[in-house]
Amino acid sequence: MRNAAQGIAMLWHGDYNNARQLLSAMDRRLGNIEAGRSLKRGQSDEQKFYSIRQARAHRSRMLSLLLVPLSVNGTPESTQISLTRAPEVGAAIAFGYEQSRGSYAGQAAVSLQELTGVLSAHQWFLNGVEVPALGKKIYPSYGTFMPTRQEYVDLVAKAPIKNAQVAFDIGTGTGVLAALLVARGVKKVIGTDIHQRAVDCANQNFAQLGISSSAHAELTNMFPDGKAPLIICNPPWLPGSAPTSLDAAIYDPGSKMLLQFLRGLPEHLTEDGEAWLIISDLAELLGLRTSQALATAINDAGLKVAGRIDAQPQHARAFDQSDLLYSARSVETTTLWRLAVQ
Ligand SMILES: C[S@@+](CC[C@H](N)C(=O)[O-])C[C@H]1O[C@@H](n2cnc3c(N)ncnc32)[C@H](O)[C@@H]1O
Repeated sequence: MRNAAQGIAMLWHGDYNNARQLLSAMDRRLGNIEAGRSLKRGQSDEQKFYSIRQARAHRSRMLSLLLVPLSVNGTPESTQISLTRAPEVGAAIAFGYEQSRGSYAGQAAVSLQELTGVLSAHQWFLNGVEVPALGKKIYPSYGTFMPTRQEYVDLVAKAPIKNAQVAFDIGTGTGVLAALLVARGVKKVIGTDIHQRAVDCANQNFAQLGISSSAHAELTNMFPDGKAPLIICNPPWLPGSAPTSLDAAIYDPGSKMLLQFLRGLPEHLTEDGEAWLIISDLAELLGLRTSQALATAINDAGLKVAGRIDAQPQHARAFDQSDLLYSARSVETTTLWRLAVQ
């Protein structure tokens, strides 16, 4: 802990399981410090939220300094952890670092924390995520937003579709919502994302589901060319900085994506078209956005609310009283806003 606090990285040479135990012990110690700091008396939910984020960033930096040695013999799949009792990691390494370039031979080191994340993401990819509203599984790539929360997917499964010719899915991620629209009878769906991994992941899911002729994802910032009668977007729900690509699916710096979406709709919706914005009020409950701000942004973009459908989150954290943000999470509402041009 002293070394990590000074920013000194440590290359582990013992047994793999002992390295895992050391990482868990550091994590527990840092978690206790985090909980203690975040629970200072008299803090508002907003202050609590910022202390928790700060403490988590610190925890992640500290944990990332425990490294394990890798040996690579030609291809990413040949990678092995050079420690006793280490698991096979070649397939997971090839999956998690598929976009990294360079020669694949020699010795390397990787943060055990990051490697653990890659191994877990690889398991999710192999097993898939059951999406009840779709009646099928979705296979997320590393770093792509996982559709593990059902309530927002269920909202898209329920909202009335007026015109099923074409739809745009802005920020498609795994492509789950685009696939759901196809399952609901939309003839052509174009998904966009700014991350190549997400675009590839969505197109692989469309192929796996046998809907490649109806759904396609492309690397585009916000809207594709043209207009559509239905445009949907599930932006990151919390305003805040996003230093990593994993953060970028949860935090929207300065609500940029949300505002770009609203402002771009009049130009991209066909006459009588409808947009669906899926967002929760967690940011409002935490004091990160005022309740008036969304209504003002909708109005300022020249849009009006044609209807809304609400859902209460059912995921475990909403019921976990030990969660530091329980008071906000337990009353969170996720809404599908049906928007039309004024
Ligand atoms: C909260 S995730 C939603 C993913 C998916 N639609 C879903 O509902 O599971 C937001 C997605 O928006 C993407 N994104 C962020 N900024 C974007 C932009 N300017 N243009 C297109 N996509 C963007 C992110 O990469 C991420 O995949």
